[in-house]
Amino acid sequence: MNPSPNLFLVGPTGAGKTSIGQRLAAHYGLPFVDLDVEIEARCGMPIADLFAREGEAVFRAHECAHLDEFSRREGLVLATGAGAVLDAGNREVLASRGTVLMLAVDVDEQLERLRDDTARPLLAGPDRLARLRALAEHRTQLYEDVADLIFHGRHESVDDAVPRAIALL
Ligand code: S3P
Repeated sequence: MNPSPNLFLVGPTGAGKTSIGQRLAAHYGLPFVDLDVEIEARCGMPIADLFAREGEAVFRAHECAHLDEFSRREGLVLATGAGAVLDAGNREVLASRGTVLMLAVDVDEQLERLRDDTARPLLAGPDRLARLRALAEHRTQLYEDVADLIFHGRHESVDDAVPRAIALL
């Protein structure tokens, strides 16, 4: 893979953007940035608190600003949040400042991986499967539109997924 200028990971919650992204960064000897972690550090609170206190629109504004800022650096592996592709400006930034790798995963696998998760405000409440399906219906095309490459996750460990992702790159 030629990492110039950046490798961006997009895709739904639970697809492995952080876990696989960290391992790809280590493999290529590049810094890894998780956009949500950067937003939490800058705002001094977990994403769930930011949503609760300031609302989703404020979170999205931080997401746009952070993506713009970090994507100007070169040679990064950067994991976006699952909703970053909702914004047309973000999609333009992703498409123009690096290679975009979509991590795809089916909703049953997502549900299983997120069984114990309480950190995602958009998945809070009953009938998580229906929420995941609704998000997928709205967002899958957006991920595909911006992606240069699509990695299809399976029911497998990160150890098994990473070599397959490297082979794709
Ligand atoms: C979001 C997904 C989260 C995080 C925030 C909003 C979304 O990232 O950015 O809770 O819009 O679906 P993950 O991709 O880690 O779930």
